[in-house]
Amino acid sequence: MNQPNIYEPIRATVEEVIQETPTIKTVVVVPEKPFSFLAGQFAFLTVPGVGEAPFTPSSPPSRKEKTDFTVMKTGKVTEAIHRLKSGDQVGLRGPYGRAYPLKDFEGREVLLVGGGVGLAPLRSLFYALMEQVEKYNRILFCCGAKTPDDYLYKDEVFTEWQSLCACQRLNFRLTVDKKDENWQYQEGVVTCTLDNIDFDVSTAVAAVCGPPIMMKFTTVKLLQLGFRDENIYLSMERKMYCGVGHCRHCLIGTRFVCKDGPVLTFAEIKNEPDAWA
Ligand SMILES: Cc1cc2nc3c(=O)[nH]c(=O)nc-3n(C[C@H](O)[C@H](O)[C@H](O)COP(=O)(O)OP(=O)(O)OC[C@H]3O[C@@H](n4cnc5c(N)ncnc54)[C@H](O)[C@@H]3O)c2cc1C
Ligand code: FES
Repeated sequence: MNQPNIYEPIRATVEEVIQETPTIKTVVVVPEKPFSFLAGQFAFLTVPGVGEAPFTPSSPPSRKEKTDFTVMKTGKVTEAIHRLKSGDQVGLRGPYGRAYPLKDFEGREVLLVGGGVGLAPLRSLFYALMEQVEKYNRILFCCGAKTPDDYLYKDEVFTEWQSLCACQRLNFRLTVDKKDENWQYQEGVVTCTLDNIDFDVSTAVAAVCGPPIMMKFTTVKLLQLGFRDENIYLSMERKMYCGVGHCRHCLIGTRFVCKDGPVLTFAEIKNEPDAWA
């Protein structure tokens, strides 16, 4: 019997393309075959004739019929993704990698800290948490962006999610590096939202995603607050080719970001000099 080709993508049709910010779009794709993932895992999106790149789905993992990818334009593949229109065909392979260990989060306070396009995996995690919100002690979602216009998911962040705060277990802190006259929340980099957190830091868990510099300084702040190394979950990114532990392009020390991650704890990477590269 022929072995299945692990690199062969399934076909998916673009249903919708949402312009989130001047440089970031969310592409909603409908796979031809069942595709499911857990919050934190990633998949490769292929643009025929251009190439493929890894992205973490940003939609609720329980929504099986279509999957969202929130993509920042940085180069060849992401520019091609930004040119997609509804009805276009793409390829999808995955999911790959280690998800957030939600079982371990149960009964604990959960902090999400996201910056810029780093909100993408945290949106998926947030929806997964909210589906079983009674299992977690409290959830605090801290979001940052450069300016109000750079916020992803504006309808959700500023309206829908705020209305969920009636639930005692959930709160948000929103900040921008530079506010405008309509901004009603904090001003400053995302670490400023971590002041005065009244969590039990000996047991609380934190999921952090954003540019490397943001993850580094957020981790430093969490450690100062007393969070434990093993309770800080970081969404790591590296250049990837295979996604399945063959090509060795994604190594951080001895760990494969594609297989052992992309969600790695600070305890797992803290001794690696190139961790924040
Ligand atoms: C597990 C994982 C999940 C990701 N999730 C998302 C996501 O949800 N949304 C999103 O917008 N992006 C995400 N990325 C990053 C995304 O894969 C890259 O932006 C993409 O591969 C760039 O491809 P390109 O052909 O457009 O750019 P290229 O032409 O390949 O590169 C353009 C520039 O980006 C740099 N670059 C490319 N890939 C990476 C990378 N992985 N890490 C750091 N720098 C890189 C290159 O060095 C170069 O400077 C993720 C990456 C990984 C590994
Ligand atoms: S991407 Fe090839 S080993 Fe990780």
